[in-house]
Amino acid sequence: MTALPRRYHITTFGCQMNKADSERMAGILEDMGLEWSADPNQADVLLYNTCTIRDNAEQKVYSYLGRQAKRKHEQLGLTLVVAGCVAQQEGDALLRRVPELDLVMGPQHANQLQNLLEQVFEGNQVVATEPIHIIEDITKPRRDSQVTAWVNVIYGCNERCTYCVVPNVRGTEQSRTPSAIRAEMEELGRQGYREVTLLGQNIDAYGRDLPGITPEGRHQHTFTDLLYFVHDTPNIERIRFATSHPRYFTERLIQACAKLPNLCEHFHIPFQSGDNDILKAMSRGYTHEKYRRIINTIRDYMPDAAISADAIVGFPGETEDQFQNTLKLVEEIGFDQLNTAAYSPRPGTPAAVWRNQLSEEVKRDRLQRLNHLVAIKAAERSQRYQGRIESVLVEDQNPKDPTQVMGRTRSNRLTFFPGDITRLKGQIISVKITDVRAFSLTGEAVQSPVPVVCP
Ligand code: SAH
Ligand code: SF4
Ligand code: F3S
Repeated sequence: MTALPRRYHITTFGCQMNKADSERMAGILEDMGLEWSADPNQADVLLYNTCTIRDNAEQKVYSYLGRQAKRKHEQLGLTLVVAGCVAQQEGDALLRRVPELDLVMGPQHANQLQNLLEQVFEGNQVVATEPIHIIEDITKPRRDSQVTAWVNVIYGCNERCTYCVVPNVRGTEQSRTPSAIRAEMEELGRQGYREVTLLGQNIDAYGRDLPGITPEGRHQHTFTDLLYFVHDTPNIERIRFATSHPRYFTERLIQACAKLPNLCEHFHIPFQSGDNDILKAMSRGYTHEKYRRIINTIRDYMPDAAISADAIVGFPGETEDQFQNTLKLVEEIGFDQLNTAAYSPRPGTPAAVWRNQLSEEVKRDRLQRLNHLVAIKAAERSQRYQGRIESVLVEDQNPKDPTQVMGRTRSNRLTFFPGDITRLKGQIISVKITDVRAFSLTGEAVQSPVPVVCP
């Protein structure tokens, strides 16, 4: 019989969903009596929680795995696990590529980690990628932060954007019940957390799969209803959410955010392209005009709201003029932050086999031009903070300057100011902004509280 393993390490790639899954899997491992090892080379159970959104994300996983597979030949007791989206996408094929793996498990199986590992410890090589109903989490996650926390509200995605692997790897939509979400948030409040980010790949789809229709024919549990249900969770002073989809985004949601004081004035609404023909080819289900209307409505209700988004350049067939429409949208809207990517063909997605693929060179060039504009616009947006007093929720020490702490404004701008982390962690402090950069701010704590502006 092999000795029971004692230490684990998890390396996480990809999005917030994966980070949340990793925290839950770490909780399960700790319940099993394992201890965290910061050094992957000292771990007995080594888990890679992987991402396959673009080819470079996937290649990164293989380079890590190659190194650890070698180690397995020297350390026989080492258990190697690949979880997450590459695991789901590749399944058995991953075992053929890296035969040293003990366990390959898709994201829907994250809460099953203990069962799966027990099978491994009995000497099996296990692949768990069949679609299942996600079991409500019964373990306590080991969260990376003591101040801010992720809370899943809906798993999976039923959209079929023609470039995207997520529906293939995350399965169909499964909403958690409002009471389970509220209970998790209440527990976080009791533990001293101050901020919660509600997560879903398409959060506006929340509740579509739950029973209940209102007399007006609307689903009873829309995402907006959920916000009204959880917004006053004791001690949770800030609530954020991601990701919004322009196709389903409603004015009712904007009104809720404007009305409920704990909802932060930040919206992450990917637009992907500023060109209607490309949006159609992507199967996104909205036009750039609709996207602009959404942003205008947000700004009517909350003139200072921060807006961030994702965009893809070099989608198959994208002409220079169509790319210019993306630049135009970015120029006109002025995003506080924009995640940009060059289109990457993904196995099993419709657009990957289209014949009108663009060269890497064209994609790279467009990405550079877009990033240049994004930085200029973000710097412009940052200017409005100069001299202002902002509420900053302190999360940590500034890793580059231990005399400073760092946190975020309600609008999600990263902010640094001089202070002692042992005293300030988890506190919401009024900070006068003295220095602004494209994506971050610096300031000083002020004694006076943030003035409350009455409408
Ligand atoms: N659910 C979110 C995004 C999920 S993936 C939404 O609907 O917007 C995160 C981002 O990765 C996407 O917004 C998109 O900008 C980018 N992305 C997804 N697939 C991609 C691909 N094949 N190539 C390049 N970027 C991609
Ligand atoms: Fe992918 Fe589209 Fe679903 Fe977002 S909405 S996860 S881009 S398929
Ligand atoms: Fe990547 Fe999976 Fe998230 S593919 S972006 S980790 S849903």
